[in-house]
Amino acid sequence: MKKQEIFKAYEDYIMPTYTRMPYIFTKGKGMKMVDLDAKKYLDFFPGWGVSNLGHCHPKVMSAVRDQVSKLIHLPNNFYSPQQARLAKELIYWAFEGKVFFCNSGAEANEAAIKLSRVFGNGERHEIITFKNSFHGRTLACISATGQPKYQEGFAPLVSGFKSVDFNDIAVVKQAVTDKTVGVMLELVQGEGGVNIADKDFVLELRKLCDEKNMLLIIDEVQTGIGRTAKMFAYQHYAVEPDIITLAKALGGGLPIGVMVASKKIADTLGPGMHASTFGGSPLVCKAALAVLKTIQKEKLLKNAADMGQYLKEKLEGLKSKHKIIKQIRGLGLMLGIELSQDGSIIFEGCLKKGLIINCTHRTVLRMMPALDVGKNQIDKAVKILDGVLSSV
Ligand SMILES: Cc1ncc(COP(=O)(O)O)c(C=O)c1O
Repeated sequence: MKKQEIFKAYEDYIMPTYTRMPYIFTKGKGMKMVDLDAKKYLDFFPGWGVSNLGHCHPKVMSAVRDQVSKLIHLPNNFYSPQQARLAKELIYWAFEGKVFFCNSGAEANEAAIKLSRVFGNGERHEIITFKNSFHGRTLACISATGQPKYQEGFAPLVSGFKSVDFNDIAVVKQAVTDKTVGVMLELVQGEGGVNIADKDFVLELRKLCDEKNMLLIIDEVQTGIGRTAKMFAYQHYAVEPDIITLAKALGGGLPIGVMVASKKIADTLGPGMHASTFGGSPLVCKAALAVLKTIQKEKLLKNAADMGQYLKEKLEGLKSKHKIIKQIRGLGLMLGIELSQDGSIIFEGCLKKGLIINCTHRTVLRMMPALDVGKNQIDKAVKILDGVLSSV
């Protein structure tokens, strides 16, 4: 299909639920993307947080090739060796407990919400969430999300969610009632503008949850799988959650979602209480195992820490040069550049110059390069951004 035919097909046949840039990508390898005109781009926002190993990582490709010729899908009323291995591996990286497999971040959060309600035993069902959070697009997840723009038009929402100020333990305590069963949060709010949870705040949350027998649910859909230079972001904090939810980068580009629940609550959802037809197929589990193994073998957590620091320093350098930059913040390789004005023209300028980044929350540019990013690629990306900032 030619470019104009593709645009026309989208106009005619695909629902207009996304704001799309007029770029058509056909190939990706590592940190490079190639468009229909064979123009190359440096991808510093690969797959919206999905491609933590870069595009088409050879280890993921070979795992998928191997599995695709054996068995792609298996219904969940049978046993799969790939699921068994992946569950064991995830528990090794996280905490003692059990997993539930599904296909997306929203679905993993839905599972966490359902588990919490059952844990509440019909007496407690409320979950406290935070302003500027993002938990996905299903009805329960937009109800949990602390950003009204995602809820507009969808009333009535699912009841039982209260969004309060982030990093303020006093307001959380005020929001707790005898119906509260849990607290759900991202430790680095991604869509909400790369806002980092304070260490003391998270410690206090854990304490509060212990005192009130509430569940601490950490949404690691974006922060998980090495993004913040630990396998999971909660490992920067001296706490163990009751539940973490995972998706995005775990499948190496294939769709997967996982809820990991601690031993204490792992058997809350019994047979028939929750399910997902595609959840944890042999194919996606094989890909996910390759992702976890590669992170370990290639020491990508260490690289993410080192390169995250390097990128942060480079961005601080830009901050001292460009007044429009108000703040650089982030954890590992999840970085935000807060601007004093709308960032979309910078994001579009970078795209034109061959650098893919993201702009969220109107004024925050977001960079989340692959975990194996090197200094050369960072230098190149920062040079392009510098040029674009100078031109506005
Ligand atoms: C923190 C967080 N939770 C949940 C989701 C929803 O994930 P999905 O789009 O896979 O449903 C996202 C997606 O961006 C996210 O960033």
